[in-house]
Amino acid sequence: MPPVERYPELQGISREHHDGLLLCWKIRAGTAKGVAPTRIRRYCRKFLREHLRPHFAIEEDVLFPILGSHHPDVRRAMAEHRRLQRLINGQTDVVIALSLIEEELEAHIRFEERRLFNHIQELATPEQLVEIERAHSSLTKPIKEERPEDVFWE
Ligand SMILES: [Fe+2]
Ligand SMILES: [Fe+2]
Repeated sequence: MPPVERYPELQGISREHHDGLLLCWKIRAGTAKGVAPTRIRRYCRKFLREHLRPHFAIEEDVLFPILGSHHPDVRRAMAEHRRLQRLINGQTDVVIALSLIEEELEAHIRFEERRLFNHIQELATPEQLVEIERAHSSLTKPIKEERPEDVFWE
């Protein structure tokens, strides 16, 4: 089955999934290189503050209401957002936390891209699609260049 084409209004939010998958790759690369886990977690916390939180907020405030808060896929995605934030900011053993973040963030993004976003774009009205695009362009900060001291994966 060919992949479903993403509507233009959702492409900005979809593109951020690429950055999320890149974070998972950075965790794997850093771990394989023997980078201190606390350093990798510090980067994950910064990524959460600057990129994941605003991304989750747009999904929860603008996209998910299109399906409704009781839809099982929406409930699952919301629960995964909470769990990912807990894993990144919480007190779980850092080595275990990193391996769970890497695995669960990737699975979350695949679930949204393969399933949830397809439902949403099928159901969204033209007005809702416009609202998605407007919210994304006004709320999301473009990714700045990495600070050299943050780059642990090269
Ligand atoms: Fe999400
Ligand atoms: Fe997402």
